[in-house]
Amino acid sequence: MPSYALLVRPALNRVYADSSVDLMAAELAVFGDRALGGRVGEIEPVRIGGVPYLGFEAEDLEERDVRYLANLSSAYALFERQGDLLAPVELTPLDKFDDDLITIQKYSGKTNEHFTKLMLNLAVASSDFAGEMLDRRLRVLDPLCGRGTTLNQALMYGYDTAGIDLDTKDFDIYAAFLQTWLKRKRLKHTADVTRVRRDGKVVARRLTASVGVDKESYKAGEALNLDYVNADTTEAPRFHRTATFDVIVADAPYGVQHGSRAGGGLHRGPLELMQAALPGWAKVLRPGGAIALSWNTNVVPRAALVDALAAAYLTPLDEGAYLGFSHRVDQAIVRDVVVARKQVL
Ligand SMILES: C[S@@+](CC[C@H](N)C(=O)[O-])C[C@H]1O[C@@H](n2cnc3c(N)ncnc32)[C@H](O)[C@@H]1O
Repeated sequence: MPSYALLVRPALNRVYADSSVDLMAAELAVFGDRALGGRVGEIEPVRIGGVPYLGFEAEDLEERDVRYLANLSSAYALFERQGDLLAPVELTPLDKFDDDLITIQKYSGKTNEHFTKLMLNLAVASSDFAGEMLDRRLRVLDPLCGRGTTLNQALMYGYDTAGIDLDTKDFDIYAAFLQTWLKRKRLKHTADVTRVRRDGKVVARRLTASVGVDKESYKAGEALNLDYVNADTTEAPRFHRTATFDVIVADAPYGVQHGSRAGGGLHRGPLELMQAALPGWAKVLRPGGAIALSWNTNVVPRAALVDALAAAYLTPLDEGAYLGFSHRVDQAIVRDVVVARKQVL
């Protein structure tokens, strides 16, 4: 059976410390099962020439399979092992824009961009739409989007995206960032902030943008849509129609003081917030869609979050590789990821 060696992005050692190879193995296992029809096996760390890689075996990897693997959040380079030698396998990720879209913004409380990509990948791979990951403009919601790390990653993949956050400063900073970035890159676009009124009263502000990947697709009416509502996430169904999103990705408040963003707009504990918000999030998710949530396990045990997902009639995927994403972020935070699906009735 052909065997391969995947080189982990060096940046991940900083993000996940000692857990980076384990997280990459778990991400590859989920992709292998869900997107590559179970054809990836024997995933294990190997050292080649003193450098750590993730080794795996796979039967009949075709060009399309490699295009999936190219989007692994952890993949830096892929080689086919030929005896003692490594033959490079060309990786062409989905990336539609310059990567400074994702890397420029730096702030206390930012969800790391590689980790955000990991969560988006897990949600897409776990949904019924995994087979469309490379071809369709999927619709991604981050209902706790802060300054837009998920929104930017979704645009990067060529997807439509929406965000909700209560923090006014985050909303303003993201709107200014996106408008400036689009102008600087000379991309065809519109990006406007408007007020949302209900019964004559202003209930929120909304950033709507349409972004051309290139001039031709913009002219052809295929611009990517972005929508960010500055509101309480428990009100998600007030702003979005039922069954609109293919996937939902969110990094929940950590429930600890974090730089200047002491829980940013958070009035409830993280578990109470998610218990209150999940029924609305489940409503705007399409049947067959999936949600990936990350949170601080020092504050909320995994079982409590799994129960909250089930109480919102979602089906947690709580076994196998899905249990492999826990990692330490700092002294106060051990972060984990849980994925759940909205079943098709
Ligand atoms: C861990 S941060 C997410 C950071 C984001 N992923 C980023 O990279 O910028 C959690 C976010 O939840 C938001 N939040 C907390 N309670 C909220 C609520 N009730 N409604 C909407 N957003 C809320 C906070 O303002 C914060 O931006």
